[in-house]
Amino acid sequence: MATLSFKTLDALQPKGRKVLLRADLNVPVRDGQITDLTRIERLAPTIRELADKGARVIVVSHFDRPKGQRVPAMSLEPMAAALGKTLGRPVRFAEDCIGPVAEQAVAAMQDGDVLVLENTRFHAGEEKNDPDLSKALAALADDYVNDAFSAAHRAHASTEGVARFLPSFAGRLMEAELNALNIALENPARPVGAIVGGAKISTKLDLIGNLLDKVDILIIGGAMANTFLAAKGVGVGKSLQEADMHDTARAIMEKAASKGCEIILPVDAVTATEFRADPPTKTVPVDAVPADAMILDAGPETVRLLTEKIVGLKTLVWNGPLGAFELHPFDNATNLLAAEVARRTQAGQLTSVAGGGDTVSALRHAGVADEMSYTSTAGGAFLEWLEGKTLPGIQALSELSERILPL
Ligand code: 3PG
Ligand code: MG
Repeated sequence: MATLSFKTLDALQPKGRKVLLRADLNVPVRDGQITDLTRIERLAPTIRELADKGARVIVVSHFDRPKGQRVPAMSLEPMAAALGKTLGRPVRFAEDCIGPVAEQAVAAMQDGDVLVLENTRFHAGEEKNDPDLSKALAALADDYVNDAFSAAHRAHASTEGVARFLPSFAGRLMEAELNALNIALENPARPVGAIVGGAKISTKLDLIGNLLDKVDILIIGGAMANTFLAAKGVGVGKSLQEADMHDTARAIMEKAASKGCEIILPVDAVTATEFRADPPTKTVPVDAVPADAMILDAGPETVRLLTEKIVGLKTLVWNGPLGAFELHPFDNATNLLAAEVARRTQAGQLTSVAGGGDTVSALRHAGVADEMSYTSTAGGAFLEWLEGKTLPGIQALSELSERILPL
């Protein structure tokens, strides 16, 4: 997406002001327990800065997909508690994001207080981007700060609509995400490469199309690579692949060639006949995959080739694992390449930006998620940004902030 200009917290004097802060508290939860605090930890600096400067910080977020119903298991109350712990200061919680409950909780705030409001998606108007909900949210506050890059691909009342009714600013996390993405693709040091993994070409067509215009090298990994290999006439045995995407894969390879973008596919593979952890495996060149076997990871020759290619790069965008990383030993190629990317990044030789879907869990599994130049907290939003789309939540911050509508 084109670089847009937006106001940051540098342009906000928050002392004594009620600031509506759109966060993304949609954190992973298993059996009622938050399993990963990354999004909360990344949000904390924005809240600290606002609260320390004397703002009354009113945090709003969605969690999961309650579809306009009040679903108790999808309450944000546990996230409010976790936020309080992370911040090391009291955080109050109100059981609705609009109406009398929210209004009374806001009225009771002092400068420097932090309040979390209940899940915005308990109201059907959130996902419909209903102006009545946007107005009711805006009525609680003086200013709007959006720090939820990871929800910016949604044009919802609390991510997009509300920005029409209040002076609007990007929070520190939003700012960091946008700067990292800008450095990676809009204004990268060249040569720039991308690693795109994952299961299906069909879900990443727009993404690949956009990347072909922007990167010098495109490394294809995961089951998606099988479709490219099969499209080139290579027998991939029982590997996951999309038989109906061969023409598309060939068209992508032709387009890449015409644009001078080098596409790199695996040259060898770790195969197995069963999809489970630690089955008997066979490592073979890609043109020698047994008919009854599946490709489940890239092999050592591929890792060597990719390592060599990465040495030549100044910038790398990473989305998607190279193999079935959730099953041992098919995490091997991803782990090895991630370690190499981390090493070059830490040595100051490479700018690396990772995000989207499984990427962060794969890098965390490899133990290097914190050693990239930037690891995005976003899933779908990161993918849409890689597709070159304008994200509505960001558009709203940049364009509409000068035209504030009356409530
Ligand atoms: C995410 O986790 O990707 C964001 O919070 C958006 O959630 P959604 O996919 O339910 O809109
Ligand atoms: Mg999602």
